[in-house]
Amino acid sequence: MTQNKRDHSLNLAPASIDDYRELARRKLPRQLFDYIDGGAFGESTLAANRDDLHRIQFRQRVLRDVSTRSLSTTVLGEELALPVILAPVGFGGMFARRAEVQAAKAAEHAGIPFCESTLSICGLEEVAAAVKRPVWFQLYVMKDRSYAEDLMARAQAVGCTTLVLTVGPPVGRSTLPRRTKRRQRPDCASETVASRRRSLHPHQVGPRRSPSAVDR
Ligand SMILES: Cc1cc2nc3c(=O)[nH]c(=O)nc-3n(C[C@H](O)[C@H](O)[C@H](O)COP(=O)(O)O)c2cc1C
Repeated sequence: MTQNKRDHSLNLAPASIDDYRELARRKLPRQLFDYIDGGAFGESTLAANRDDLHRIQFRQRVLRDVSTRSLSTTVLGEELALPVILAPVGFGGMFARRAEVQAAKAAEHAGIPFCESTLSICGLEEVAAAVKRPVWFQLYVMKDRSYAEDLMARAQAVGCTTLVLTVGPPVGRSTLPRRTKRRQRPDCASETVASRRRSLHPHQVGPRRSPSAVDR
């Protein structure tokens, strides 16, 4: 395959975070890509975080015994093969078919936890049934506290061991990407919250619609 062809297909072997970003940009409809790629408001925190991360470098060590290496660690009493956790991503199932299930399986394969978002497209039960490793559950606490209790009971029933409480967005839309229509969160349904008739999106995205853009 010529270099030119590779550049114009999705068949790019990703070697960096930027490569994964480029693959996502090529694959996803603009609105979905912007939702993942963008930060809040002026994206100044996003830029500052990127700058901070770029300043962190691996310290190269040479002439060391590398015959036994381990990246494993323990977080909240749980053994992790790598110091990485798949963070909750709302509407993940919009970006790939049954994405939360795929992500949970990938995390299990890698020996790390997957955290199911309150706003996941695939329901807790479906995700938990797909893996042996206990799934973590992220909770947005809404005004309707009984709703949060229902979600926690469901998480407990499917064997979730860790509850991740998000206290980030005290004011609606504070985490929404900017740039109006193109950068709004996708309007879709979450099976995790589907047990209630009304939309329970904490940022008041519209009523439930079809489950996934990529399933269509
Ligand atoms: C597209 C997107 C969706 C997210 N959805 C959620 C969510 O549903 N619940 C939540 O608690 N955090 C959510 N987050 C926050 C992430 O879980 C994570 O905490 C945050 O992105 C910081 O990690 P990072 O610096 O590696 O991106 C989301 C982040 C992004 C970029």
